[in-house]
Amino acid sequence: MNQRPIVVGIDGSPAAEVAIRWATAEAASRKTHLQLVHAGESTASASRAADVVDHALAQVRSLEPTVEVDAWIEHGAPSTGLVKASTTAELVVIGSRGLGVMVGSLIGATGLDLAANARCPVIVVRPDLAGDSGTRVVIGYDGSSASESALDVGLDYAHRHDLAVRVVAAQPAGTELHRITDAELQDAVHRRGGHGAELIQITGHPAEHLLRLSADARLIVLGARGRGGFSGMLMGSIAQTVLQHASCPVAIIPAAAVGG
Ligand SMILES: Nc1ncnc2c1ncn2[C@@H]1O[C@H](COP(=O)(O)OP(=O)(O)OP(=O)(O)O)[C@@H](O)[C@H]1O
Ligand SMILES: [Mg+2]
Repeated sequence: MNQRPIVVGIDGSPAAEVAIRWATAEAASRKTHLQLVHAGESTASASRAADVVDHALAQVRSLEPTVEVDAWIEHGAPSTGLVKASTTAELVVIGSRGLGVMVGSLIGATGLDLAANARCPVIVVRPDLAGDSGTRVVIGYDGSSASESALDVGLDYAHRHDLAVRVVAAQPAGTELHRITDAELQDAVHRRGGHGAELIQITGHPAEHLLRLSADARLIVLGARGRGGFSGMLMGSIAQTVLQHASCPVAIIPAAAVGG
């Protein structure tokens, strides 16, 4: 198969099971194959790693027997193995948190690290909120190249899953910096064929508006970075806030995945 696979990070956690479910459905929709990647730091747990992989393979086969799937075990930090896998992947899908993470944190270190460094879009799903029920894709647009990619990814997903699209461009109150005009927003969406999309220009805190306008979302799509911030930063504040608080899966377009 010459199409790029969908990679799923697995660790045996409930969040990873939801990630496998999401990724299996997406592989079926895109008619591509799945690659399950389990990364571990210690070789002492080799038999547990094999168990995690066997269990995940069985889950995929019971969900979609026609989807081709393979699996491998990487030695090292999970985000390192997944960033490596992302170089040849269409998408990387992970659970928002694994087994051994800090209590109270909604997203684990693997998710943050990967969303900052992967070479393809990253989908983060939460175990409590599989998000199969929403009716639209919400895309955050600030005119950055990452948000242009977010439009591509979001419109494609909505098209394949027959969902409505809402594109939000929020202007922080009290500043005219980087203001997006109606014409610019319309042009960015329409030149990608998104003529049916709902376009929302609004003043106020971008993350608050994005979260509020995503109450009925199946997927939120954002760049990891926007037009602000400073150059060394890998994840902007809007992307981080939405990742922490979204009640549906979030697709993040890392800087390293944006063409050029
Ligand atoms: N004003 C906005 N309206 C809608 N979506 C936005 C807005 N700002 C950012 N986004 C979305 O969030 C993504 C990440 O941008 P974010 O603002 O988090 O990073 P940044 O601009 O690099 O840093 P920061 O704004 O924290 O200084 C963007 O690619 C875009 O998808
Ligand atoms: Mg910004």
